[in-house]
Amino acid sequence: MDQEQVKAMLGAYAAHYIDKYLTLESYVGIGTGSTANHFIDALAKVKHRFAGAVASSNASAERLRQHGISVLELTQVDELVVYVDGADEIDPQLAMIKGGGGALTREKIVASAAQQFICIADQSKWVKQLGSFPLPVEVIPMARSVVGRALAGLGGKPVYRQGFTTDNGNIILDVSDLKIASVTEMETAINQIPGVVSNGLFALQGADVLLMDKADSIQEITAHQA
Ligand code: 5RP
Repeated sequence: MDQEQVKAMLGAYAAHYIDKYLTLESYVGIGTGSTANHFIDALAKVKHRFAGAVASSNASAERLRQHGISVLELTQVDELVVYVDGADEIDPQLAMIKGGGGALTREKIVASAAQQFICIADQSKWVKQLGSFPLPVEVIPMARSVVGRALAGLGGKPVYRQGFTTDNGNIILDVSDLKIASVTEMETAINQIPGVVSNGLFALQGADVLLMDKADSIQEITAHQA
């Protein structure tokens, strides 16, 4: 099975996995990226089982609409039964680096409204220690250089993501070489830099469940198993 087939298997599995949480009144939070796209495609087959979805990006919203799934704003919904999304890296505590697709801020917001964060990730995303994948940081455009200097002060090498604007009208700095001794402390420290909108560490609120491939099947890993 190639990586795309694994992602398709994860998307289909997740659509089946969340069935136990769905009612005709429930709303589902939807992530962004190629794995999340497979989940959206699989979710279309059970769209009669829930009320609608809240998307973490314009791209995911568009894909949901193309499947005839009702898309609501987060302001219209009190709570999401689940949030399902991919990751760029995930560790044994189910803390993640996300934002390779640049949707990290909306992902964090939509995930925060969900009862459960279900991460769907192929084995290539599993790491003992977060930090090999450059950490995406969403930044207000006027703060680009001041935030860049502050990130360098934390030991990182920030690189401006050329030609990319987030759905919120901001820029992304991708930060490599960060030594992340404490993931929660680093997440908090970066959030405190003036001009940072959010960063791609999802540790203060990580995933509750990881669905990851093993051989040709899927393993379910929960945070407390770590
Ligand atoms: C987008 C994300 C994605 O979840 C992450 O980049 C993984 O993407 P993919 O499923 O395409 O590998 O955080 O902002």
